[in-house]
Amino acid sequence: MAFPIHRPRRLRRTAALREMVRETTLAPSDFIYPLFVVEGRDVRRPIASMPGISNLSLEHAVAEAKQARSLGVPAVLLFGIPNHKDAHGSQAYAREGIVQRAIREIKSAIPDMLVIADVCLCEYTDHGHCGLIEGGHVVNDATLPLLSRMAVTCAQAGADIIAPSDMMDGRISAIRTALDEVKLTEVPILSYAAKYASGFYGPFREAAQSTPQFGDRRGYQMDPANAREALKEVQLDLEEGADMIMVKPALSYLDIIRQVRDRVDVPVVAYNVSAEYSMVKAAAQNGWVDGDRLMLEILTSIKRAGSDLVITYHALEAAKLLG
Ligand code: PBG
Repeated sequence: MAFPIHRPRRLRRTAALREMVRETTLAPSDFIYPLFVVEGRDVRRPIASMPGISNLSLEHAVAEAKQARSLGVPAVLLFGIPNHKDAHGSQAYAREGIVQRAIREIKSAIPDMLVIADVCLCEYTDHGHCGLIEGGHVVNDATLPLLSRMAVTCAQAGADIIAPSDMMDGRISAIRTALDEVKLTEVPILSYAAKYASGFYGPFREAAQSTPQFGDRRGYQMDPANAREALKEVQLDLEEGADMIMVKPALSYLDIIRQVRDRVDVPVVAYNVSAEYSMVKAAAQNGWVDGDRLMLEILTSIKRAGSDLVITYHALEAAKLLG
């Protein structure tokens, strides 16, 4: 006879009771804030499909990172968008490339801000794919040395964490070996281990100008229908030396976050991607939803699913609300 002995509503009666028994809490220290850095001076170009987010030249990126740090956000994730793109993505691993310069500037202005470098070729190639093209195909093994060079130049510029997002096989071990060869043994790797071929990246591609010029990414990113395969990707990346694991996107993949959390003992990170952000903004602008409330509910659900950290374009506004 559960009822009337048991009444779960007893613990929901007041805000103080609810707060005391709350299982999942959010704090600014849970967030990682992505920044899109472009060349030029005094550029702050709003991204139409991501209200509140802009392409930023270096001085604005530094200011934005400062604001994030002062709100208690511990890390930024950097994407570089070069003026010059070519078939080999050569600006991805240039010592004076836009992302390498951004890393240096942010680290020198705000030494205690963690800088995470997204390592991938798609923002740097003229064809918009994440690897080299041979015979109309994105080739795996020939791409690995380029990703390794990008990782090394970013770490030498001062990046605290290297985050490969290209989904080539074997890149974690290639990057680990390359970092170790130049004595960067202490730089951790956050692997985009379970990264799906997702329609939720649409607005990002406007922000990073990285839309593939032919075909799509289904030949290297994961099929959204697969869960067991995500566990295999995670296991392989851990064996190759990943220090942290990412699941991306977050919201349609909460089950994957949970399964990964239950199987591994390393930090789990989820990427609350561009369209997950844009959908909330668009609905809120129409007056259809309470944007702040949805934002906090979504971020809470991602943590509840088992993520330790959330990469999110909401980082600044959520940190402000959480105070
Ligand atoms: C690839 C990369 C992408 C995102 C992060 N890293 C795009 C892609 O794979 O097409 C997407 C992030 C987002 O949608 O917010 N460098």
